[in-house]
Amino acid sequence: MVKIGVFDSGVGGLSVANAIEKALPEADVNFVCDAAHVPYGTKSKQELLKLALPILKSLETEYKCDAVVVACNTITTTIIKDVRAELSVPVIAIEPMIKPAAALSKSGVIAVCATPATLKSERYAQLKQDYAKNVVVLEPDCSNWALLIEQNKLDKKQIKSMVNDVIAKSADVIVLGCTHYHWIEEDIRKLAKGRALIIQPEQAIIKRLIETLKQPA
Ligand code: DGL
Repeated sequence: MVKIGVFDSGVGGLSVANAIEKALPEADVNFVCDAAHVPYGTKSKQELLKLALPILKSLETEYKCDAVVVACNTITTTIIKDVRAELSVPVIAIEPMIKPAAALSKSGVIAVCATPATLKSERYAQLKQDYAKNVVVLEPDCSNWALLIEQNKLDKKQIKSMVNDVIAKSADVIVLGCTHYHWIEEDIRKLAKGRALIIQPEQAIIKRLIETLKQPA
């Protein structure tokens, strides 16, 4: 039976692990997180290396996973090179869907909801440079959302105000650039109905995971 490791700071990764289990019912999906240290999105690169690398490594050494899914945009955009250098199994990593968002937008304005660490990372700047040169990228302040979602305390009014604000500024695609926000996807989708598309990477990651698992080791 194929063993898949899924990692995030907290409950965001659980939504990804659930989606993988649903798509690959025959796989053994091992979800691990670092709930004691949520949020990751306000931490430095050094702190993230210290916290996340040993856990990610354990998915290979202790859990004996055949592939590891980094279900955390913050880890991917800040330390993915170190993660890949440390692990010898395939690493599949989630990052903000700037490219599809820019391609889907008709208004030329997209909104990216992500953690502070993701938004200030070099990788994120590179994604914008490569794929979003011709679109306006709004970055609404979601800085405390991951923690609030982890604690199930995010106020629906805060979600509504973000959605209405970016749509008022002409955004027609909203990128969920933090896996914690997958838990409020339906709320966002309902609020934005008929006005903006909501995109998140679960299905794309599952597709990549299946392709990776097919490849000879
Ligand atoms: N769920 C993570 C992400 O995709 C991290 C959230 C956090 O701990 O700040 O970025």
